[in-house]
Amino acid sequence: MHWNSLVLAVFVAGANGLLRFSCSELVTERLDPLVNPGVTESPHLHQVIGGNAFNVTMDPSNNISTIATCTTCTFSEDLSNYWTAVMYFRARNGTFKRTANGGGMTVYYSPQSKGKVTAFKQGFRMLIGNSMARNASQVSQFRQLTYTCLQNANTRTGETTAFPTKPCPAGIMANLRFPTCWDGVNLDSEDHMSHVAYPSSGTFENNGPCPATHPVQIPQLFYEVVWDTTKFNDKSLWPEDTTQQAFVWSQGDPTGYGTHGDYVFGWKGDALQRAMDANCNINCPTLKTQTIAQENKCTKNQYITEEIDSWLPQLPGGMQITTS
Ligand SMILES: *[C@@H]1O[C@H](CO)[C@@H](O)[C@H](O)[C@H]1NC(C)=O
Ligand SMILES: *[C@@H]1O[C@H](CO)[C@@H](O)[C@H](O)[C@H]1NC(C)=O
Ligand SMILES: *[C@@H]1O[C@H](CO)[C@@H](O)[C@H](O)[C@H]1NC(C)=O
Ligand SMILES: *[C@@H]1O[C@H](CO)[C@@H](O)[C@H](O)[C@H]1NC(C)=O
Repeated sequence: MHWNSLVLAVFVAGANGLLRFSCSELVTERLDPLVNPGVTESPHLHQVIGGNAFNVTMDPSNNISTIATCTTCTFSEDLSNYWTAVMYFRARNGTFKRTANGGGMTVYYSPQSKGKVTAFKQGFRMLIGNSMARNASQVSQFRQLTYTCLQNANTRTGETTAFPTKPCPAGIMANLRFPTCWDGVNLDSEDHMSHVAYPSSGTFENNGPCPATHPVQIPQLFYEVVWDTTKFNDKSLWPEDTTQQAFVWSQGDPTGYGTHGDYVFGWKGDALQRAMDANCNINCPTLKTQTIAQENKCTKNQYITEEIDSWLPQLPGGMQITTS
């Protein structure tokens, strides 16, 4: 499935203001305080960015922006956490190697170009995607979880919902766009998704209205994660079965349909609302910024130390590759 028109629409919305910033890696480990709170080794590996309050449990009644003391993101008032699965290369000999990604992601918060946008509140969290999904119909319910096979760093067309099937000269970009309508009441829900929804008609990008059940327009949270797959573009290293591409998500997904992203809100005070109201377009003078050197100083040790970077005989946590 292709999303070229949506990509163009995002550029148009950009003219009306869009908060975009980069965040470096905080930690890569097997924790998931949203799906597996209290579990010290969640089944699969995640790459986490943002504030250093990320932990086994993140009680929604806690004010994360007062617990975290630093963040890996450009805007220092953003102590939120953002995480995704981790992309591994699966070599012909059956071993796995973590794909570097420049250590982070680009995060966007886009207001719709019409009407008021309400920033997330303290305690808000949500996730998008299904780590168990292995076919196109399963991923299509999330509408906008895609990949861009980068021909160069600026490629923004030709999005697909499956992993690219050919080597990508400048890497694989995973694009995760979250729903943009909120029920206005619940900060979370059992599946971490049903308190948010997509526009009832049209799309966020063309100002589609929110459904009556979820009437509150929230910013479109969008993660762009570039995985540097270029070291693995030699097809003689790829699995012998030529119908298979060589990359897998850390939950054992070789299809790409199981891409998922999680979000725990942690902005200080009204900083995000101020930024939305100021209609910032990339630069946002109402927010405090920090240097990349300061970002990179914010790190956290793995809660349970685990080797994730050598050539591994199996994926961390022993996750098996499954195709259905
Ligand atoms: C994480 O939680 C543990 C157990 O509650 C606590 O001891 C530790 O200080 C927390 N770490 C951070 C970085 O908040
Ligand atoms: C498996 O293949 C990779 C890539 O060619 C290589 O770097 C690694 O050493 C190999 N591992 C084993 C156990 O053969
Ligand atoms: C996709 O996978 C789900 C879960 O395994 C299954 O129920 C469904 O029939 C599959 N759909 C298609 C079109 O293969
Ligand atoms: C959370 O802490 C911040 C300071 O970091 C403060 O501005 C904000 O009002 C607090 N939020 C709540 C709901 O208490």
